[in-house]
Amino acid sequence: MKPNDTLMVVKATHENMKDLVSKYYYKQNQNSYLAKNFTLEALNTDIGYLIDKGLSYVSIENEVPVGYILGYKVKELFFNNPGVYTPDFAVYFENNQVLYRLLEVYYEKMKKLNFTHHAMTFLTPFHDDFIIQLGYGLRVIDGVRFPKKYIINDSEISIKAAEISDFNNLLPIFKEHNLYMSSSPIFLDAEDPSEELNEVLKDEHKIVFKILYKLEIIGFSIVDKKYAPGGKYFKDSETLGVKGTHIKRKYQNKQIGRRYIELLDNYCVDNGYNRLAVDFESMNLLAVTFWRKHYHLSAKTYVKYLGK
Ligand SMILES: CC(C)(COP(=O)(O)OP(=O)(O)OC[C@H]1O[C@@H](n2cnc3c(N)ncnc32)[C@H](O)[C@@H]1OP(=O)(O)O)[C@@H](O)C(=O)NCCC(=O)NCCS
Repeated sequence: MKPNDTLMVVKATHENMKDLVSKYYYKQNQNSYLAKNFTLEALNTDIGYLIDKGLSYVSIENEVPVGYILGYKVKELFFNNPGVYTPDFAVYFENNQVLYRLLEVYYEKMKKLNFTHHAMTFLTPFHDDFIIQLGYGLRVIDGVRFPKKYIINDSEISIKAAEISDFNNLLPIFKEHNLYMSSSPIFLDAEDPSEELNEVLKDEHKIVFKILYKLEIIGFSIVDKKYAPGGKYFKDSETLGVKGTHIKRKYQNKQIGRRYIELLDNYCVDNGYNRLAVDFESMNLLAVTFWRKHYHLSAKTYVKYLGK
């Protein structure tokens, strides 16, 4: 790529961002997977916050703004290191040259502030060749699904909301899940499974569904009625969030997960949820193969390590 000397990068202001935000909005407005909270007004509020409080730059060519990159400053982004997180609506560029110039300035500023990681989310479909070339790796994938009603009358698999009295029966599966998520190749920070289970069972916004084969608990799935994972504009008050989900190892790959998808859909339809949202680690191949069969992959988050 030839250097483009006509591209300037300046701090983002409410004035130089105005037209670009509208452009972003009208470009993404066609995305049928976005929730009804994706409005120009909401977008302007979020962008306004980032202009005032985040790390925010605009690229200008011949006096016309052609791209922006904004981000939240996060104290602990990855591995307890500080970084900047750029959500999908906080990055817009008319061509790769524009992104390149923006990032050049962005990294310089991040280095000065001792931020070691940059994470960016892009809505799908997105051709990621260029950002891979810039040193980013895929890390998290978000998915959405519109539930429908299934008629199920022959199943030995069922789901039931767990209660505190289920603690001892659920704990071994929570432990198995925790070990799986904190081991190679995923390496998420290990949580204390008994503390986590205790908290989640008491949380009024969450339901721990027991997944049962006949009367035996063979898995669990945590759903969140208030906070769904994934991008902000993929969830609204009618979205049910799907958090940790686990089928005991010896029961995996027997279509139990698939049945759970149907049972959860029925729960959603019966309880007024029109959309489901999930996110998962891209290096968790079991999760990727499973969720992508049933959910639309709506966004991908990439991370770059800038060094200390
Ligand atoms: C992801 C998970 C919940 C899926 O449940 P499951 O009951 O195994 O899923 P199913 O049997 O319905 O399989 C669905 C698909 O996943 C894939 N899959 C599941 N287990 C697999 C395995 N061990 N090897 C290869 N593929 C597998 C299959 O391709 C299958 O496709 P198919 O429907 O065309 O046969 C389960 O594998 C699990 O608990 N994994 C560990 C924890 C985890 O990763 N949770 C998700 C992130 S929180």
